[in-house]
Amino acid sequence: MMISKIIASLALSVFFLTASSIPALAGATEGKKAFEAKKCGQCHQSEGPAREKTIKDQLAKKGPELWYAGSKFAPAFLDKWLADPRPIRPLEYNSLTKKNAGNHPKLSSADAIDVAAYLMTLRSADVKDGAIQPRDNPKGRAIFIKKQACYGCHEVTVRGNKAGGLSGPALTGASKRLNPDWVYAYMTKPRIFKPVKDMPDYTGYINDAEMKDLSAYVGSLD
Ligand code: HEC
Ligand code: HEC
Repeated sequence: MMISKIIASLALSVFFLTASSIPALAGATEGKKAFEAKKCGQCHQSEGPAREKTIKDQLAKKGPELWYAGSKFAPAFLDKWLADPRPIRPLEYNSLTKKNAGNHPKLSSADAIDVAAYLMTLRSADVKDGAIQPRDNPKGRAIFIKKQACYGCHEVTVRGNKAGGLSGPALTGASKRLNPDWVYAYMTKPRIFKPVKDMPDYTGYINDAEMKDLSAYVGSLD
């Protein structure tokens, strides 16, 4: 009796010690609470899989889905962005005409750290870690700028100047914002990450080696 009680309490204290010695984990629990308290879920889907089936479903969404945020974003990006959210999409979400007003809700730095820790736990098994190394490369660049006109919809920085289209999210700064492994997964598995989308589906048009060069290139963009 006695011994089993001691063992149980030992096991419990080991559990708490381990949990509190991993700050990211503790922050994630607080972050989930803050995400709910601040009603972020009114505009963001935080549980997968993708629910949108028609254009109407997509247009009803008020913000990008976050259920794979932990796979999509570079680890050091989210806490800074949540405390100081600068426009990512040049135009309002779901609009092709209105300029992004840049009025995203802002979090205190403490909340931003916790919410970022929570969002980084939202991972997708469809993203393979470590497959793509960010790399500026001529093949990826040629596909992006010339062959497939990604450039026509996405803003990038060319020799210090912003250039490119405005209808897609800006890819200026993608090296600091996006995980290149996610870029590859997003491009090759659009039905998982973006079943209804404004961007063309390139599967079958860009082969796997090219998809890797392209994702490495996007992952290298300053
Ligand atoms: C009124 C709707 C709304 C609310 C509420 C809201 N967001 Fe957003 N969120 C958006 C929109 C729209 C964007 C796209 C902004 C852009 O591209 O500049 C966005 C972008 C984001 C992004 C970047 C996602 C991406 O794929 O680019 C994150 C992370 C995020 N929001 C987290 C949060 C958190 C955390 C909260 C709660 C504190 C929150 N949002 C509350 C609408 C909202
Ligand atoms: C016709 C315009 C258009 C073209 C061409 C286009 N995209 Fe997109 N892209 C979009 C839009 C719009 C989105 C936002 C999601 C959606 O609605 O599809 C997007 C999303 C993305 C994202 C995710 C960015 C984020 O922050 O969520 C990446 C990465 C991307 N595109 C890369 C590419 C690459 C690489 C190419 C060329 C092979 C390309 N795009 C061609 C319009 C386009």
